[in-house]
Amino acid sequence: MVSEQDVRTALVAVIDPEIRRSVVELDMVRAVAIDGTSVEVTIALTVPGCPMKANLEQQVREHVGAVEGVESVAVAFDVMSAEQRTALRQRLSGAPAGEERKLSLEPATRVIAVASGKGGVGKSSLTANLAAALALDGAEVGVVDADIYGYSMPRMLGISRRPVAVDQMMIPPVNHGLKIMSIGFFVDGDGAIPWRGPMLHRALEQFLSDVHWGALDYLVVDMPPGTGDISISLGQLLPEPDLLIVTTPQAAAQKVARRAADVASKTGMRVAGVIENMSHLVCSCCGEVTHPFGQGGGQELADELGVPLLGQVPLDERLRVTADEGVPLVVAEPENATAKAVRELAVAVPAVLRARSGAERIKKPLAVI
Ligand SMILES: Nc1ncnc2c1ncn2[C@@H]1O[C@H](COP(=O)(O)OP(=O)(O)O)[C@@H](O)[C@H]1O
Ligand SMILES: [Mg+2]
Repeated sequence: MVSEQDVRTALVAVIDPEIRRSVVELDMVRAVAIDGTSVEVTIALTVPGCPMKANLEQQVREHVGAVEGVESVAVAFDVMSAEQRTALRQRLSGAPAGEERKLSLEPATRVIAVASGKGGVGKSSLTANLAAALALDGAEVGVVDADIYGYSMPRMLGISRRPVAVDQMMIPPVNHGLKIMSIGFFVDGDGAIPWRGPMLHRALEQFLSDVHWGALDYLVVDMPPGTGDISISLGQLLPEPDLLIVTTPQAAAQKVARRAADVASKTGMRVAGVIENMSHLVCSCCGEVTHPFGQGGGQELADELGVPLLGQVPLDERLRVTADEGVPLVVAEPENATAKAVRELAVAVPAVLRARSGAERIKKPLAVI
């Protein structure tokens, strides 16, 4: 005889792929009907047409199908009512609606802000690959795309779905094990967006307070390039971020260093280290190493700032091609030498991050933008 209790116990192993908690814990199991050796399970989705339906169905079949005595499993779907969504949101955030802005990041989550003196140095490519490498090492990782000028995380990480909203909480879409939020999810088409500071500011504030991030180890933020007002005010919103500065080997180190140090000191950010990108090129036929962009810029900048040079990432066409295909190189081609350089970076970076003091609220920026 199949017991309902056994079926419900098996359902504990069914994980909502976006919220990443058990459907039992989330109270999404609407009904369990048993008829001899046949079981029908009804799951309540947060929204109709939830993109994760097929995934949930497959998990229910697998886990309930493994219960002794069960010969067939049927899965039905239902949609949560507004009240149920509110209850779910409260369970996720631990706070009723309408209270003041609270960070939805756990106190232990460390914030890594990836910045650069200028655009085009590979900041976004490294953000995507570093985040994926941290996740491959077993960390829970979120990615925020805060580059107002050229949001690129949806493309580089292969996500075009918008986040699902559960009442007032946004559930970030997940790909390659990364939870992702991007300005790009909220604009139509591919065009440049006429967003100005204050709008970005509000959007980012929402990303930090109204997104169900769960228990992340790291939140990696792709910052806008440069050191303008937007970077400053973003830096102030982020809770105790550690700044990684991406540069190329020929960068004018002193100028970048002075500006970066200046922004960091104004915003309470700390420069944790420098990453040199496009360091060298290894010829695919003969293995000869050349330096198309010169040499030494990363070390020079690191010395200037008094921080470590955390890694040197080669110039590699595969990094660009895989990004264009929506799969980070570290995931697509783990044996690639450039992927290995990024994996080493993912070991070096955590070692230089500071522990957060655990502030729970969003700091209001001082700069007016
Ligand atoms: N190490 C690298 N080797 C080859 N191409 C790279 C590398 N890093 C970045 N790129 C390419 O250079 C361009 C700019 O990179 P991107 O990450 O978008 O820079 P940013 O975010 O700093 O503007 C992209 O086309 C990207 O694919
Ligand atoms: Mg970019």
